[in-house]
Amino acid sequence: MNKIVRKEQFSEKVFLFEIEAPLIAKSRKAGNFVIVRIGENGERMPLTIAGADIAKGTITLVVQQVGLSSKKLCMLNEGDYITDVVGPLGNPTRIENYGTVVCAGGGLGVAPMLPIIQALKAAGNRVLSVMAGRSKDLIILEDKVRESSDEVIIMTDDGSYGEKGVVTIGIEKFVEQEHIDKVFAIGPPIMMKFSNLTAQKHNIPCEVSLNTIMVDGTGMCGACRLSIGGKTKFVCIDGPEFDGALVDWDEMFKRMGTFKEAEQEELQHFEE
Ligand code: FES
Repeated sequence: MNKIVRKEQFSEKVFLFEIEAPLIAKSRKAGNFVIVRIGENGERMPLTIAGADIAKGTITLVVQQVGLSSKKLCMLNEGDYITDVVGPLGNPTRIENYGTVVCAGGGLGVAPMLPIIQALKAAGNRVLSVMAGRSKDLIILEDKVRESSDEVIIMTDDGSYGEKGVVTIGIEKFVEQEHIDKVFAIGPPIMMKFSNLTAQKHNIPCEVSLNTIMVDGTGMCGACRLSIGGKTKFVCIDGPEFDGALVDWDEMFKRMGTFKEAEQEELQHFEE
């Protein structure tokens, strides 16, 4: 059982949870995820770790209420317990001193991007961050991103905060401004696909995190099977980060579509 020590609401359906998990806090690396379960028969829910406090023995998770399991989690409050939290899992991000990096986070993707930004900064990179979201209330963790970035561009679809436009405009701005050695992109698949295309256009390698396709996170359900560079890979075992140029994006969109339908059905039953 893991106690929730802090809950913060970012927007209507997005919450931050700080959870007691001392061993995970100590050993987690940027890019790692945990599997959370609510109730003995609860579904396994993989969530990327957004931060950790070793002294307090806590980890931070940012959760969007999209299906039944995430709804159950979002209904919990400070002082409540999560049935179990297993991790850290997944391969950590390859952190080295690349030179100048652009870290692009779309919507909730800023949460898993944050530890990557912090680790890249600590490794000596010049870190330029692009935070993008549909509107102002969907721009999350801005202070934390600013703390570890040399420069930040904020883009919103409706222009309610920062500059009006999509994430790729922000990436292009940094590319025009100076030489970029590597791009990291995390967010909705469509955002990562186009971030990758933008990077490719300028011959810059782009790393993407496909964590949103995972279902059980254990290598057993097969939902995260994808063609990467023509080879079949499991995102939860072989990833979650891959070279964006090798990802079969059409297959990714198809798989995510199937998953969404099943989730909606389940949620309806719960609400009935
Ligand atoms: Fe189920 Fe990878 S998430 S096999």
